[in-house]
Amino acid sequence: MQEQLSSLLSKASAELQSIRTRPELESAKARYVGPNGEFTALMKQMGSVAKELRPAMGKLVNESKGKLQALLDLKLRAIEESELSARLGPPIDPTLPSPDPGPGTFHPLTLVREEVCRILRKVGFVVADGPEVETEFYCFDALNTPPEHPARDPQDTFYFPATAQFGNVSRHTPGERYLLRTHTSSVQVRTMLKGAPPIRIVSPGRVYRRDTSDASHSANFHQIECLYVDRNVTVRDLKALLDYLFEALLGPGTKTRFRPHYFGYTEPSFEVDLSAKHLPKVNKEWIEIGGCGIVDPEVFKSVGYDPEVWTGYAFGMGIERLAMTLYGIDDIRVFYQNDLRLLRQFKGSI
Ligand code: DAH
Repeated sequence: MQEQLSSLLSKASAELQSIRTRPELESAKARYVGPNGEFTALMKQMGSVAKELRPAMGKLVNESKGKLQALLDLKLRAIEESELSARLGPPIDPTLPSPDPGPGTFHPLTLVREEVCRILRKVGFVVADGPEVETEFYCFDALNTPPEHPARDPQDTFYFPATAQFGNVSRHTPGERYLLRTHTSSVQVRTMLKGAPPIRIVSPGRVYRRDTSDASHSANFHQIECLYVDRNVTVRDLKALLDYLFEALLGPGTKTRFRPHYFGYTEPSFEVDLSAKHLPKVNKEWIEIGGCGIVDPEVFKSVGYDPEVWTGYAFGMGIERLAMTLYGIDDIRVFYQNDLRLLRQFKGSI
């Protein structure tokens, strides 16, 4: 019987070697330890073993049974593992460099921003930066926008609670309220306070207004600001710059026009429209694109420049509006949804 047991074990172990699947394992199990299995049949023979040999024989049978079970368990684990790795796919080596995802693309707002800065750098403008968290002085007071001006209404501007502190945003006046800048014009003030004229800056950045989001409004969007301060600056210089900028950006045939307007920080002030009917989706003759004017002497006074000596022009516009005109996009919200189907269409480099 001992021999039978060990030959059965070696037969089982050889047979199990070639098994790969659960059904195969189940049928092998049935053949050995099932009700009609070979091992079961051997166990049944225990009854005919002489009484004095039974304890030793019983031990042997139990040991063999344990070994057989261990073989079956081992096989089951091997099958489970191979099932799992089949589901996981081929093994990966996380230490290898990842497969090349291909070059990324720039966001359309980035493309327009960088293109405008590039065009303006060519004529001497330098990129300037300012904080998105601002104070009332830089955003309004220094820009000749008095406290009762509607732009300062809490319905239009996001104010921080009086207790908010921003160690990295300098306040001009102690105790001034912090807010999210409503326009990039605040960078005019910060730049002028930092140095002496002549100044020629372009400042792109994010701005915030308490607007309800729809196809043409977003509570946060982007602007580009220009400021030129020098001697004898005139409206003609301003018009020439804008003509140059928009023609370079949108192509030959682009025209600009000024409409009188009011801004506290410029006098005279204008709204700027552009005409670019050669662009595929433009079906209006004039599109309002920004505001501009000749820097108001009050602004120079608040930054300590002598208005008798210095003159300047300033200009601000929304990047989204420009990108929508350029690319024929009719809903501002698509810029912020990060839908790859849109983003992948912009292959431009900067
Ligand atoms: N800050 C204005 C706005 O957000 C745009 C603007 C108008 C900027 C006139 C200027 C300017 O620099 O001179 O609507």
